[in-house]
Amino acid sequence: MKHLLDIHQLSGEELLELLETAIAYKKLRRRGLRRTHELQGKSVAMIFEKPSTRTRASFAVAVYEMGGLPIVYSREELQLARGEPIKDLARVLSRYHDAIAARVYRQESLEEMARYSSVPVINLLSDKFHPLQALADCMTIMEIFGKLEGIKLAFIGDGQDNVFNSLAIAGLKLGMEVRIACPPEYSPDVSWLEKLAGEVKGTLEVYEEPSDAVKGANVIYTDVFVSMGQEEEREKRLKSFLPRYRVSPELMNRADANAVFMHCLPAHRGEEVDEVVIESKWSVVFEQAENRLHTAKAVLRRLLCAEHPISF
Ligand code: CP
Ligand code: NVA
Repeated sequence: MKHLLDIHQLSGEELLELLETAIAYKKLRRRGLRRTHELQGKSVAMIFEKPSTRTRASFAVAVYEMGGLPIVYSREELQLARGEPIKDLARVLSRYHDAIAARVYRQESLEEMARYSSVPVINLLSDKFHPLQALADCMTIMEIFGKLEGIKLAFIGDGQDNVFNSLAIAGLKLGMEVRIACPPEYSPDVSWLEKLAGEVKGTLEVYEEPSDAVKGANVIYTDVFVSMGQEEEREKRLKSFLPRYRVSPELMNRADANAVFMHCLPAHRGEEVDEVVIESKWSVVFEQAENRLHTAKAVLRRLLCAEHPISF
């Protein structure tokens, strides 16, 4: 694997390897060993066309703790904002940096970067996918339940959401029972399923009614109803999703007795989730956020370290 543009590129086995590496990094850090040296002398460009808290912080800290230098560029600071083509940006930055990580409006921008870059390109979120989030989510599920295979995950909300897409693909490759409850007009665009041929170990079920989807589920997951870049559709979207698709205590009580609540954050309390749920004993949202750091390290190690000097 040269780039990480979406989860399709990883087999189930590779996903599990990355998760094991991330868990090892977490253990090391818990023991006080933050500074490793795999990226000594290397630098990583991080480009942001949209805002970010977790991705920006976790990825930059991951590079730093591994001994490398992260340099963050917002779109406005780059000549990109004045019309410089992506293909030029990619060829220039890959002369300086050892990887280019980018959060973009369009998945096609990442694909173009990857075509022209001579160093690995990593997706930090696009309109279609959020692979680094899916890795952190799978790690969190694995830590809580000790396994991924057979886990029933109910995603409540937008079936075309970037976080859902990546999580569903990872879940299907890892043998999870993925359920989505969404309004019919936001049903999953399963064109990505075609690329999974032969790799599907789990199942995908589409529901309209949230209370049907959560029955016996181990994980209830939601994300915002209006993603970055969809601001103009806000009114229309909220009309479709509210109040039916908000995760409430009543909905959580229909899930398995040991179910957890997950959200990639940032959350809009009172829209996709009630305040009492995100602040409750069900909620593992800050574990997920922490795991962004450990999984970022696993991805950087895999893409940038031909030799892995740290053995776990
Ligand atoms: N979950 C996530 O990607 O958060 P940010 O948008 O803050 O990076
Ligand atoms: N679906 C959200 C995820 C944010 C991490 C968005 O794209 O805005």
